[in-house]
Amino acid sequence: MILESSLEPSSPEYEGNARAMTEYVAKIREAERRQLQTELEHGPRAREKGKLLPRERLARLLDRGSPFLEISSLAGYGMFEDSDGRFSGGKLVAGIGHVSGRRCLVVVWNYAIKGGTIDSVNVQKMLRLQEIAFRTRLPLVSLHESGGGNLDKSAAADPWAARLFVEGGRIYGQQAQLSAAGIPQITVSHGNATAGGAYQVALSDVIVLVRGQTQLFLAGPPLLKAGTGEDADAEELGGAAMHATVSGTGEYLAEDDADAIRIARQVVAELPPDPVVEPTRPVEPPRYSPDELIGVYPDDRRRPLRIQEVIARVVDGSRFDEFRAEIDPATVCGTAALGGHLVGIIGNNGPITPAGANKASQFLELCDLKGLPLVFLQNTTGFLVGTAVEQSGQVKHSAKLVQHVANYRGPKLTILVGNSYGAGNYAMASRALDPDFVFAWPTARQALMGGAQAAKVMQIVAEQKWARQGVEPDERTRMAVAQQAQMIEFGLEMLSESMFCSARLMDDGLLDPRDTRRVLMLLVAVCLEARARRGTGPTYGVQRL
Ligand code: COA
Repeated sequence: MILESSLEPSSPEYEGNARAMTEYVAKIREAERRQLQTELEHGPRAREKGKLLPRERLARLLDRGSPFLEISSLAGYGMFEDSDGRFSGGKLVAGIGHVSGRRCLVVVWNYAIKGGTIDSVNVQKMLRLQEIAFRTRLPLVSLHESGGGNLDKSAAADPWAARLFVEGGRIYGQQAQLSAAGIPQITVSHGNATAGGAYQVALSDVIVLVRGQTQLFLAGPPLLKAGTGEDADAEELGGAAMHATVSGTGEYLAEDDADAIRIARQVVAELPPDPVVEPTRPVEPPRYSPDELIGVYPDDRRRPLRIQEVIARVVDGSRFDEFRAEIDPATVCGTAALGGHLVGIIGNNGPITPAGANKASQFLELCDLKGLPLVFLQNTTGFLVGTAVEQSGQVKHSAKLVQHVANYRGPKLTILVGNSYGAGNYAMASRALDPDFVFAWPTARQALMGGAQAAKVMQIVAEQKWARQGVEPDERTRMAVAQQAQMIEFGLEMLSESMFCSARLMDDGLLDPRDTRRVLMLLVAVCLEARARRGTGPTYGVQRL
């Protein structure tokens, strides 16, 4: 059935929504621009050393004009030494793009930000990227250059710093497992690669060294001097020429950055071509423009959003076969095509009732039977509460939905459109339930509950305590509790905000809503291709002899 839209792009309400969303998007772009600015400021030093900047390397690696989906561009935004985006990104520019006609997962170390050092944001982002590599089976191409573990004072300020050292080691173990699983890892060692950084290079299947630039060692000259008293020359200790001709830690010796990237592209060109997953139906654009998604989300969050308005602007031909529409319109289930591939879609028009949870669970079983990718469009305040729904088994029905989502065997793709509170966040496949990808609109809010509700809960708890103790609080005590409630509300609102959550890798990135269809089509293709990618089965991986 072709969806009908009641959205009026010329209405003042739409215009207000569009203005607010445009401002959100601009705020995100501004943070990304500041990150880029930090990199550009490093330009003169990079030129002096004959090096390309990280994004210049990226541009040479990717096929010209091909799409690139960046992942977690704002990792670490507002955290540690970052306040406005300038040090964000987790020292990595990463995403899915095309190299020599093959779809690859690309990781470029941003050595222009704090030396590309490894901190907790960097480790979390790397682990997530590896998870993507395992799931998508995409070849992983890294352009590496890093000062290794972050040794400055900001590292000590991280309460998880001690654990980070061990957690970072997981990256190396997983590199070995990726290799054993037949997922190729091709790394250019553009510069410094000390200690952990050296392992990131050495555990790759193919290494490209850069003459006069690569410095690959377990301990660099200063550390060696401090540890053993040995005076060593960096070039002799771990230079490209030494590794290419003496130690054998590297397969190719390039003359400079550009030459190294040319070689990496050549190596990728020798990999098997991407599997072809033919669409099962003709690809049609939606009847309603995806550009209208800029004004679909109500600026006044108390106003409802009909999730069908989003679906109509995302799926092929705006066609949506709704499943059991007569049962609870607050949980919307149905099938549609995205880029010619059939997918199941679950969206919210409000809180999830027991009937809605049951409908979605049954729909998931049917989609699983057909092996369909599932798209979750989250906009829910959570599961409905109250005596009536509890008596009708809300706990067991909501648990059942969590069970179905957690154990779904096909690809799961989640778009956090707006509200994502409480167990609704889990049941609608947030990061917690392990979807293949999660992207968020700027209007997304993820939290245990809304700030106002949390504040009210704590106020009631205080009042119940006074009643229990038989205390009649004076005006000052009441004021203090009211103030505390305000702080709880403000705090939770801040914690749930999309840039705050994206900084903590609770999604794979923030989307301009207008890009939703393009991104989903790409991800559906990536997930379907993943099933068709060959693996070598368990081995010890590629070893260097
Ligand atoms: N921890 C924290 N910060 C580091 C760092 C580290 N390990 N290595 C480099 N940095 C920072 C520098 O303080 C500098 O910060 P700034 O931009 O705020 O000034 C920035 O990264 C760039 O370093 P700089 O030395 O100016 O650049 P460079 O290109 O001349 O040299 C390195 C880069 C990585 C070769 C050099 O900084 C170095 O040798 N670092 C130590 C590497 C090491 O031994 N690591 C062991 C970790 S286990």
